[in-house]
Amino acid sequence: MRVFLAGATGAIGRPLAERLLGAGHEVTGTTRSPGQAAALRERGIDAVVVDALDAEALRAAVLTARPEVVVNQLTALPQRIDPRRYARDLAATNRLRREAGPVLARAAAEAGARRIVAQSISFIARPEGPPVLDEDAPLFTDAPPGLRDGVEGAADLEHATLTTPGIEGLVLRYGFFYGPGTAFGPGGSQAQDVARRRLPVVGAGTGIFSFVHVDDAADATVLALDRGGPGVYHVTDDEPLAQRDWLPLLAGALGARPPRRVPVWLARLAAGPVAGQAVSMRGAANAKARRELGWVPGHPSVRTGFAEVFGAQAGSASAGSGSTASASTASGSTASGSTASGSTASGSTASATSAASTASGSSPPASG
Ligand SMILES: NC(=O)c1ccc[n+]([C@@H]2O[C@H](COP(=O)([O-])OP(=O)(O)OC[C@H]3O[C@@H](n4cnc5c(N)ncnc54)[C@H](OP(=O)(O)O)[C@@H]3O)[C@@H](O)[C@H]2O)c1
Repeated sequence: MRVFLAGATGAIGRPLAERLLGAGHEVTGTTRSPGQAAALRERGIDAVVVDALDAEALRAAVLTARPEVVVNQLTALPQRIDPRRYARDLAATNRLRREAGPVLARAAAEAGARRIVAQSISFIARPEGPPVLDEDAPLFTDAPPGLRDGVEGAADLEHATLTTPGIEGLVLRYGFFYGPGTAFGPGGSQAQDVARRRLPVVGAGTGIFSFVHVDDAADATVLALDRGGPGVYHVTDDEPLAQRDWLPLLAGALGARPPRRVPVWLARLAAGPVAGQAVSMRGAANAKARRELGWVPGHPSVRTGFAEVFGAQAGSASAGSGSTASASTASGSTASGSTASGSTASGSTASATSAASTASGSSPPASG
């Protein structure tokens, strides 16, 4: 089918475009850069150079392409997000979500497209209730200032995608991307920070993170072209993990020493409200995407996924993880009944001195 891919050059856009071509689809892909457009054309993509914030140009590009499905993968995130400047670093992405998102949905409907599939994020739920939440959980629209902007921008994009008349809207809430070309990939900012021990376990590290390998996210997106009904889907792996569990795993996979630990108050001082995610965030259950899209993540857990991406350093599977009954029991496909409490984890074991020096240069995970 004819697919219009807005954002064909990004971390997800690249593997997605390959998969779309591989599945026999005709792909029109956007970029702002003529150089990138030439590279896209070499790969068999009908490239369009357009700034998505130019509403009329974006509309015209969609109408010209006459797509059957439009896929919105527009973000504008820095390679390294500064948690203390979270709102600033998310501002351009929020603008795309709020301005380009509705334009794209309306243009898709006007062009006669059957469906629009848009990228959102799985880590915007209010941190309350069970450790792993499904798509119906309330969003964290009352998050502290700074954090709230990102939630509201994603919520606005979701709303436009789901409610534009004349077209089916599907929202794919991806987990934290890892894999090539992402912040949690080789050379990526988060991987570098973990390798340098600049990303500490915060407090008891009880915040639950849902990751997804970027190739698996692309696979789910291809399936969403013609499977599943309109609505929201968590595209996350099978094993949400507490920060205290995945961070040592990642350090081990990188061949780095185990992460330091810092108390919550110090992390908040150093990194602002984003630090709270490391202790309170909930994971995202993927049962609906598995059921309705027929999607099976090829990388079910970062336990094996990090080792695969970073080359499986010896001893990585157990490095630094002292916790046995952890959030790992909160299976994404069951979503409830688990007790990913942090009650068994001790608080910070680092000395005040090392904690302070770590926190001053550390940054709890942040992503778009
Ligand atoms: N769920 C997640 O964890 C998640 C989701 C998204 C991104 N990220 C992370 O964020 C970092 C950067 O992401 P990224 O590689 O996807 O890059 P990005 O800079 O966010 O760009 C994504 C796509 O949007 C396009 N774009 C941006 N602004 C545009 C505009 N005004 N008009 C038209 N197109 C525009 C880009 O095209 P051109 O630049 O070619 O114009 C690119 O194709 C990576 O580390 C990634 O892992 C994480």
